[in-house]
Amino acid sequence: MVKKTSSPNDKTPQEDSPLGHDPFDDLDLNWIEQEEGDISIEVLGHDPFEDITPADWRGSGNEDNALYLPLPAEAPPLELADRPSPLADSPDVTLLSQVTTPIPVEGFTSESLSSTSVPPSPPPFPLQAPAPAPPTVPSRPPAIGTAPTVATVAKPAATFHFPVDFKWGVATAAHQVEGENILNDWWDWEQTSGHIKQGHTSGLACNWWENAEADFDRAADMGVNALRLSVEWSRVEPRPGAFDPAALDRYREMVQGLRQRGIEPMLTLHHFSSPRWLAEQGGWEAPETVGLFARFVKQVVETLGEYCDLWCTINEPNVYAYMGYVEGIFPPGKADFRAGMAVIRNMLAGHAAAYRQIHALQPHARVGLAHNMRIFDPLNPRSLLDRRVARLTDQAYNQAILTALTRGRWQFPLGFGWVRKLRRSLDWIGLNYYTRDLVAFDRHASQALYSQRSHAEGAELLDGGYGEFYPQGMFRSIERLARLGLPIYVTENGIPDADDDQRPRYLVAHIHQMWHAIQLCYPVMGYYHWTLVDNFEWAEGWTMRFGLIELDPATQVRRPRRSAHLYSEIIRANAITTPIVDTYTPELRPHILPG
Ligand code: FCB
Repeated sequence: MVKKTSSPNDKTPQEDSPLGHDPFDDLDLNWIEQEEGDISIEVLGHDPFEDITPADWRGSGNEDNALYLPLPAEAPPLELADRPSPLADSPDVTLLSQVTTPIPVEGFTSESLSSTSVPPSPPPFPLQAPAPAPPTVPSRPPAIGTAPTVATVAKPAATFHFPVDFKWGVATAAHQVEGENILNDWWDWEQTSGHIKQGHTSGLACNWWENAEADFDRAADMGVNALRLSVEWSRVEPRPGAFDPAALDRYREMVQGLRQRGIEPMLTLHHFSSPRWLAEQGGWEAPETVGLFARFVKQVVETLGEYCDLWCTINEPNVYAYMGYVEGIFPPGKADFRAGMAVIRNMLAGHAAAYRQIHALQPHARVGLAHNMRIFDPLNPRSLLDRRVARLTDQAYNQAILTALTRGRWQFPLGFGWVRKLRRSLDWIGLNYYTRDLVAFDRHASQALYSQRSHAEGAELLDGGYGEFYPQGMFRSIERLARLGLPIYVTENGIPDADDDQRPRYLVAHIHQMWHAIQLCYPVMGYYHWTLVDNFEWAEGWTMRFGLIELDPATQVRRPRRSAHLYSEIIRANAITTPIVDTYTPELRPHILPG
């Protein structure tokens, strides 16, 4: 669902139905689970969609500029966690609370920096390809970490500072980078023709199992101070209950190596791949997997806890379930919506079990989950039907998981009822943000919640049909997550862009949106760009290149892209500065700089 290319925007805008009755009445909604309580989906008698509006839905029809709208006068109450986060005493939290006072920024008046005033609405982002690189940037970039290549400072100037201890990271996943992960379900999936684009396989990937350290050095040279990597369950537990000390040692070596380079590891405990033996006994569809996952997590934390206390239990349960069990593009290749929802429920239960297991072993641990969020806006904001299916899609994709994790309640489409063990199972929430979709009602698309996806007319599209360039979605997603009352890490954000003609603009624009959110005191603790080095992009194989550093998987030769230098300069400045914008993304100047 997430990675599918949307068709061009060919929907005729609809107006609100003049029918005088609920136009959903005659739709077959029988498959929608009935719910109890205030969040209910009722097939008969009531508007089936009325009560599932996410708390922050505005429906203003002006979502493009939503970033620059002041917060609504009557903001919905914060969904605060019912106990203080274990992070409350951490230095990071002190750090973020400092942001509540305006940070002096060159080129801005103190008024424009106050936490209640926000910069004026900029013109829309450019739709054209960027101007060619200015001559100050050599076509063959020097090694990362060498002297800056910034242009002469232009006036007026601004510096968008980040908090002093802000984490600037890169994100990876074991199967995508390690190579030769022959014991998991993905390896098997790759062997069947038609599963991976162009018949690609992960092969050696980025050769991290042998030599992750070479890329750790590159990350350190860039100034990166945080790195998200995952532990491959099938290496650690190649047979049920049999743990491999050599594999655990190798991971210990990696996280220790990161620490030695001044890089804080964030360890993900499940990132899409599962041991073959687990897949054969039902994988995440089987409730027994919850306990088995907790047992694996225990081994990992006991071994690696010395070097890591920042844990991401599970990556993107929604993507995992939709891609593997609804769309059938990932293993096990099913098209069974109910099975997909069971998978999400089990994964969330697995998350909660892991949360408690980790805290039992490491009371000061910071444990969260990486949630993929997409923005779903109605294609025609004046159409009741478009608005409703956009909300429904948002509920199914974004909100249901958040509600389960914070309130301990299953909502559509996950089911109904309470699941108390999920409550209080997050110390932080991870945001994986990439793009947005416009959603239109489609009476025939019952399998897709009666929706058809497309892009804004004239919008800049990302390479490979990856979606729309929509940096405002970063701010909107953070704003929404901030209501959970938890620290936020942007655990992924990036684009496939082999020729690196969009990435610099994507990076600056998204980081600028994040900066804006921090100015409003939203507790964003760090940013992990996806990704450091081109890696095996699941069903897309090697056709999508997300790396700051280009990789030829056949030769293992690496070459930093211009974006690597750009990101390095942002990290070193701990800011977006005017010279950086002028050098790398001059086309953004009118959109993010004053004057
Ligand atoms: C995310 C996945 C990550 C990578 C990026 C591009 O959904 O978590 O592994 O595939 O997309």
